[in-house]
Amino acid sequence: MTDSTDDVVLSLRDVSKTFPGTVALDRVDLAIRPGEVHALVGQNGSGKSTLIKILAGFHEPDAGGTIRVGDTVLAHGDPAAAHAAGLRFVHQDLGLVMTESAADNLALGAGYPTGRTGGIRWREQYRYARQVMRELGHDIDLRSPVRQLSAVERTAVAIARAMRPAAAPIALLVLDEPTATMPAHDVETLYDLVRRVRANGAAVLYVSHHLDEVFALADRVTVLRDGHLITTIGVADTGPRELADLMAGGHVDIGERAIRELGDPALELRDVSGRVLRDLNLVVRQGEIVGLAGIDGSGRDEITMVTFGGSPRTGTVRVGGAEIPADRPDLAAAHGIGFVPADRAAHGLVMDMTVRENMTLTRLGDYLSGLALRHRRERSDVVEWGRRLGLAAPGTEVAMTALSGGNQQKVVLGKWLRTNPKVLLLDEPTQGVDVAAKAEVHRLVDRAADGGTAVLVASSDETELVRLCTRVVVLSRGRVSAELVGDDITRAAITRAGLGVAEEGVSA
Ligand SMILES: Nc1ncnc2c1ncn2[C@@H]1O[C@H](COP(=O)(O)OP(=O)(O)OP(=O)(O)O)[C@@H](O)[C@H]1O
Ligand SMILES: [Mg+2]
Repeated sequence: MTDSTDDVVLSLRDVSKTFPGTVALDRVDLAIRPGEVHALVGQNGSGKSTLIKILAGFHEPDAGGTIRVGDTVLAHGDPAAAHAAGLRFVHQDLGLVMTESAADNLALGAGYPTGRTGGIRWREQYRYARQVMRELGHDIDLRSPVRQLSAVERTAVAIARAMRPAAAPIALLVLDEPTATMPAHDVETLYDLVRRVRANGAAVLYVSHHLDEVFALADRVTVLRDGHLITTIGVADTGPRELADLMAGGHVDIGERAIRELGDPALELRDVSGRVLRDLNLVVRQGEIVGLAGIDGSGRDEITMVTFGGSPRTGTVRVGGAEIPADRPDLAAAHGIGFVPADRAAHGLVMDMTVRENMTLTRLGDYLSGLALRHRRERSDVVEWGRRLGLAAPGTEVAMTALSGGNQQKVVLGKWLRTNPKVLLLDEPTQGVDVAAKAEVHRLVDRAADGGTAVLVASSDETELVRLCTRVVVLSRGRVSAELVGDDITRAAITRAGLGVAEEGVSA
């Protein structure tokens, strides 16, 4: 290699971060080379996002550490300095303003292009926005609030914003779990983008819980565990198993699909239509785990929300024979439907309330006898569910914002699993959840099904569907394009059916 291997785009030396009660990072050293894709992996709460927020100037590190971009020392806790140094970020929670349009979000932080008079050049703004979004493969409505976009579309907006032309060239693009809810098809588009950034000489720091992405994309990988840097190695010198074991500090048993006796129909959908979805007919029996697959916009990403009544629908939804009116999530919950939505921040959690409050919001009825008793029982119940889910949190009385992304996801799951629902609707249930915790979540879903719960799980993670489901319904353009059963459920078959590629042995 040339001398340039000694070059460093970004270096961290002795960087630590202490939160009250938690050492999130403990004297971390890291060097990122120009033109490399550097993966950052570790279990939930291991410190990945904290490291990134320090780079972005959002958190100040403890005294004593040094961060350099090239040869220049980066000021701590100064977002403008990070931007000027050429660092660009797509954060785990994306940081979009949900009530604003995509065009406005693209302009935020970067400033609107202004004419000589100082007025905003809207036409230019829209042209730029449309062009980047198209490059990312999304022809979206730029004027409506991003709240109305799908998860993938929102990620694209956040990426487009990070890539927005600015005075300083991009030295390092940081992506914190950009693919958490992305189906394989969209992940490819993202890969192209990452490779393009690298081809332009910038480096990429890439956080993901999907180890196959690390091997598809990265040159080197750094493993964090409990705030400690365990190792930085070349991707060619390791494998997924070794990496998973390094992250967990031991061996992870991912479990396998269970076959169980099915009971009566628990959830019935008749001629259900939504925004994209057309005339869906589906019956899920007690103890059955049915998967929903398909590319984004196929209807896969709409079914659980529509069934719960969180977005408009026509057609009939029945639980245990009782019809649930449309647009009445409260009645859906009262009839025993539990719902883990794909977007936990928008629909699943109240971020400024505590872990305990979030877990018990759905089930206050249980605790209505005597306030002191209620509090005590609530707390021990939440502690117990935290244990089952392997929740890593500074306690149950802290706000959700103090939890790592994966741990927030576990709280949404716990909130509904606790209620022992008749029907459990899961949309991307293990997004952002680490390999070991994912295995645990799968075991808990299995246990719910063992107890007779009917489970409908929409997932862009084919491995998850293979692990959990005895039946997978694949959608394409709002309609069922294939149904896979038993051993026919493979990653390849799901992907092919989702893209509308005909296959022998698959009934269309
Ligand atoms: N604002 C905060 N206040 C207190 N503690 C925090 C705060 N932010 C993070 N932490 C704690 O710091 C630790 C590291 O969290 P971090 O978000 O960096 O994890 P992560 O590796 O990104 O995990 P995930 O894979 O779940 O996103 C966790 O124990 C978390 O609870
Ligand atoms: Mg994180």
